[in-house]
Amino acid sequence: MRASAIAHPNVALIKYWGKKDAADNLPAVGSLSLTLGALSTETTVEFDPALTHDVLVLNGHEQPLEQGRLTACMDAFRAFAGCDEFAAVTTVNDFPTGAGLASSASGYAALVTAASAALGMDHRESGLSPGTDLADIARIGSGSAPRSLFGGIALLSIEERGTNCRQLATPAEWPLSVVVAVTTEDKKKITSRDGMAQSRLTSPFYAAWIHDHADDLNAGIRCVEARDFFALAALAEHNCLKMHSVMMTTQPALLYWSPVTLACMHKVMSLRADGVPVFFTVDAGPQLKAVCLPDALANVTAALHDVPGVLRIIAGELGGGASVVRR
Ligand code: PMV
Repeated sequence: MRASAIAHPNVALIKYWGKKDAADNLPAVGSLSLTLGALSTETTVEFDPALTHDVLVLNGHEQPLEQGRLTACMDAFRAFAGCDEFAAVTTVNDFPTGAGLASSASGYAALVTAASAALGMDHRESGLSPGTDLADIARIGSGSAPRSLFGGIALLSIEERGTNCRQLATPAEWPLSVVVAVTTEDKKKITSRDGMAQSRLTSPFYAAWIHDHADDLNAGIRCVEARDFFALAALAEHNCLKMHSVMMTTQPALLYWSPVTLACMHKVMSLRADGVPVFFTVDAGPQLKAVCLPDALANVTAALHDVPGVLRIIAGELGGGASVVRR
């Protein structure tokens, strides 16, 4: 009844922002992402008959479970497995938590992978399928978590009642590098979940964002299939800026960038204007992620390192999917 799993965070190239069903935490739109091999979360789940509630210890500190996300995920497992034991969950990130580096995505992907192994439900014939069952439980915790179940490039599709997630390309099929420019180690003040609910209610651009989204997603899939880096670069930056225009026009405004984030964007755009194969993307936080072809990695790393205010650089290749490391 105990297992440990590792998962990597992911960064969306075609992003989701908004829920179709808030109670069920079902995203309003699909998304396309890269799994970041340089960052990891390791999570251990142990079902224990002596516990009277689920317990979460994150980076060595016990967390209050008032938001109920972890309990909702564990309840889904208990229902599947016909088990009534609570679980102790211990999770460690090797990168800043809650600062726009997708720690909840890797966290919930590692959680569902470890929990299904702890319950002996990860066998191919009889077990929970990663693309549907595990994706649907993971997204109860975080709408981007299903993508971290898969390595390389992942596609999350939203269906009438649930999610479907699959790998579009392995890291070997399209080798890409990602350079994260860390601009703050602080936690963000407004969670994505609260921010996107507010955007839906107040941003005049929200309806347009949802309306055009399928076109961006389909174009993104075509770029990946064609391995067309520069077409993907233009599309991913456009999609990112469109999401941030929804965020900025939310009331109260969600302005996740710092001056350093903006300086990094300009740097990436000027590198690309000089022919360097690189583009940026930014999520609900001030860190900038630059995606480049592996030959450009050293150049991009040095250029972002030199931007005043960048605290540190985390660089690496695409990572694999969530996997069980101990049971
Ligand atoms: O994973 P969530 O539900 O906390 O939301 C993630 C939202 C963005 O990172 C801004 C976009 C995305 O698709 O990852």
